[in-house]
Formats: sequence, C-alpha cells, structure tokens
Amino acid sequence: MHLRTMTKHDIPAGLRLKELAGWNQTAADWNRFLDASPAGCFVAEVDREVRGTATTISFENKFAWIGMVLVDPENRSRGIGTKLLERAIEYLDDQKMSTMKLDATPQGKPLYEKLGFVSEYGIERWVLKRPPQADMEIVDSKRVLLSPAQLGSILGKDREVFGADRSPLLRSLYEETPHYTMCVWSSGTLQGYAFARKGSFADHLGPWMAEDSAAARPLLHGFLARSSRETLIVDCLTANAVALELLRTSGFSYARTLTRMVRGPNDYPGKPDTLCAILGPEFG
Ligand SMILES: CC(C)(COP(=O)(O)OP(=O)(O)OC[C@H]1O[C@@H](n2cnc3c(N)ncnc32)[C@H](O)[C@@H]1OP(=O)(O)O)[C@@H](O)C(=O)NCCC(=O)NCCS
Repeated sequence: MHLRTMTKHDIPAGLRLKELAGWNQTAADWNRFLDASPAGCFVAEVDREVRGTATTISFENKFAWIGMVLVDPENRSRGIGTKLLERAIEYLDDQKMSTMKLDATPQGKPLYEKLGFVSEYGIERWVLKRPPQADMEIVDSKRVLLSPAQLGSILGKDREVFGADRSPLLRSLYEETPHYTMCVWSSGTLQGYAFARKGSFADHLGPWMAEDSAAARPLLHGFLARSSRETLIVDCLTANAVALELLRTSGFSYARTLTRMVRGPNDYPGKPDTLCAILGPEFG
C-alpha cells in the first residue's frame, strides 16, 4: 500500500469510491477539496490503483476539517483507513494546525477515537423522498440573486456560527446554485440563511441557520420549492428541536446519525445553538 498526494487526475477514482459507499458528492465537490487544499488531500494505492482517500481543509488557521475518509470495500480492515487518517493528521501537524474536526459515521467513529478525536455533538441525517417536481429553477434564478452586501452579511454571520471563515467554499456554492442561497431579514437584521448544493443523487440543504422557527421555516420551504429533485438531504443538529420538528412535518424521515468530533483544543466552537443543519460531513 502506497500513500501519495491526491491530484485532479484522481477525481474519477474518488468518485468511484464515494459511489461504492453510496455517498452524494460530485466532481465539483472533489474540485472544491483540491482547490482549497492542493497539498492536503491523499490517496492510498494498492497495485497502483486508488483504493482509499482522505481530504483536509484548513479554515483560517483556526482548525482544519478532515473528510472523505473512504476505503474500497474490498480493501477494508487492513489498516488503510488508519494510515490515511494518520497521514492527514501528520500533514496538519506540519502546518501547525493544533485543532482538527470531522463528522464521523458510526463506521468511522471507532477509528477516530483511537486517534484522539472526542465527540462534540450529534447530527442526524434526514431524507425526503418525493415525486418528480416541475423544473422551476431556471425561471427563478434571476429573481432570487442576492446583492453583494447581503452575501457579505451572510458570510460574516456564518463565520460567527461556524467558528471560522469559510467564504471561499460558500461562494463556490453560491456561484454554482445562486437560487439555492436564501436569507431572512427582520428590521434590517439577518435572522437566518441557507445554502444548498446539487449532489449526485440528491440536493443537500446546508448550512441552514436561523434565530427562530419564524426564520427557519421559509428557508426550508424555499429549498423545497426551488429544488426539483426527488431526493433531498438535510444534516440537522440533534439538539435543534425546532429544525427537527420542521423536517418531520415537511415529510422528511430520519436516516442515520453522525457525530461531530474534535482533536486538540476546541477554541473556536462557533455558535451551534442557532444552526439547524451543517453544510455536510465532508466540509463541516
Ligand atoms: C471507515 C473506513 C474508512 C475504515 O477503513 P479501513 O481501511 O477498513 O480501516 P482500518 O483497517 O484502518 O481499521 C478498521 C478496522 O480494521 C482493523 N485492522 C486494522 N489493520 C488490520 C489488519 N492488518 N488486519 C485486520 N484488521 C485490521 C482495525 O483494528 C479496525 O478494526 P476495529 O474497528 O474492530 O478496531 C471504511 O470502513 C469505509 O470506507 N467506510 C465507508 C465510508 C465511511 O463511513 N467513512 C468514514 C467517514 S467518517
């Protein structure tokens, strides 16, 4: 088994692995990882074939995100996942990044615990399956564009909520699907915002932030109206009863649990109390 830095030539191999795991990422998502961190994404090769991946993204030198820890089902339980994770940690240690975070699947959690990650909070994946919708996205897109000032306010608020600036990542989502970025204002104050992206089999809402249910509801309903996909995904914070209730009453069903985990000092926890849903386990 040989570990090396991932390049854009490896994207088809990364797509093959995420497909085998039933994940929702696209080539655009792999490009986001490699653009954000060209030296910080890794592949494991067996007989010159890519059989495993791991990505890292640093957010403002405050903390780094580890994602896309994937091993081909044929090559599991041979230590490849552990080696990939150790390589990602070694890379981040070299960058003097003392805090690392990730969202663990139940399968990945024991591996992360062995390497010093501890649980921060719970996340639940909720999924909506619905009949095909009329495609209204193109019609809507011009009408719903945000002003640069509005987008700036959203990015500033997200920095507070997430704990670090991730505007390049959020801007790339906005550029790809501008009509999926929404905000709610009251008396000139931002009450909530949401982004979403197109995945390979589902549209995925997040981050979704709201001060209260009055702000949370139109953002979720806006996403339901603007997407034409039959499958929709939301990774909701287990502690956010308002968001969970909205999902339930909108027809979503619980799918699985994720655990937000941290390694090292958690000096930038953000403000998760107003967060309804994360961007996604691979991005934070
Ligand atoms: C989670 C995942 C990445 C683990 O990859 P992996 O290569 O199987 O991981 P490892 O081999 O390093 O460790 C897994 C197990 O194999 C064991 N193992 C490690 N080296 C071994 C070896 N040489 N021989 C036999 N078993 C070994 C480990 O002890 C561990 O067992 P345990 O869980 O009972 O303690 C892989 O299962 C996967 O891709 N799952 C789907 C995607 C996913 O959930 N990813 C995690 C995202 S958070």
